[in-house]
Amino acid sequence: MNLNGATALVTGGSSGIGLAIANALIAGGARVAITGRNTARLTAAATAIGAHPVHADVAKEADVLRTYTEVLQQFDHLDILVNNAGFGVITPLIELELSDFERVFGTNVTGAMLMAREAARHFIERRSGNIINIGSTASHRGSARGTAYYGSKFALRGMTECWRAELRPYNVRVVLVNPSEVLTDFYATAGLPQAQENPTKLHADDIAHAVRAALEMDDRGFTTELTVFATNPQD
Ligand SMILES: NC(=O)c1ccc[n+]([C@@H]2O[C@H](COP(=O)([O-])OP(=O)(O)OC[C@H]3O[C@@H](n4cnc5c(N)ncnc54)[C@H](OP(=O)(O)O)[C@@H]3O)[C@@H](O)[C@H]2O)c1
Repeated sequence: MNLNGATALVTGGSSGIGLAIANALIAGGARVAITGRNTARLTAAATAIGAHPVHADVAKEADVLRTYTEVLQQFDHLDILVNNAGFGVITPLIELELSDFERVFGTNVTGAMLMAREAARHFIERRSGNIINIGSTASHRGSARGTAYYGSKFALRGMTECWRAELRPYNVRVVLVNPSEVLTDFYATAGLPQAQENPTKLHADDIAHAVRAALEMDDRGFTTELTVFATNPQD
């Protein structure tokens, strides 16, 4: 597709990978809306890159419905949904609180489903559209302490395959992008240590590059899944 003049909605676009994707799509000529829950951070990010901010929690159905109302009012139609909002709780199974498990699945799984459902209704009518799901290398393999986060990313990968099968007849491309470790706020939010400066580890812009390349392929085809590793990461 040609990004110039296209319209996109990036969830969790106020930070890290989502912000870098929004910025890359704008650089390609797209009009972009970004969502997030923290208003101050969302407004600052939108102003910095020239995006349209929508204050919304993907885990809340009313917020999702309002997001589409606002975006369609602003842009008239939507070409691209990037399901990026997500976070992790990394805890041993025997210490996992139900509320933490449900919070992670609420955003990473239910939120992605609600956002995709509304996009699909629009895309089916238009016989055109793109859904990029930001999975993880955790979509492919389990890990100790990974029940909530890795489980949610496996679920996102499963949903991706269902949506791909269901939506291809309507010319809708559904792509899963799996980053390995990227230097963002993700680790701090999950309570994990991570050095913020490390030239050998992936930066958010590397994932944005992969997303943009996947979208810019001619509409005749699409990449089903893209996994991005750092070449030789050093701690
Ligand atoms: N960083 C990595 O190493 C890595 C690796 C693989 C995959 N990923 C995936 O990449 C995606 C982006 O993560 P990141 O690394 O960029 O982390 P980040 O810098 O912490 O960004 C997360 C973004 O999601 C938003 N968000 C979280 N929950 C939300 C909700 N319920 N509704 C709306 N927005 C929400 C956050 O804003 P608010 O908190 O203000 O809502 C923020 O904008 C996630 O899906 C993550 O699982 C990250």
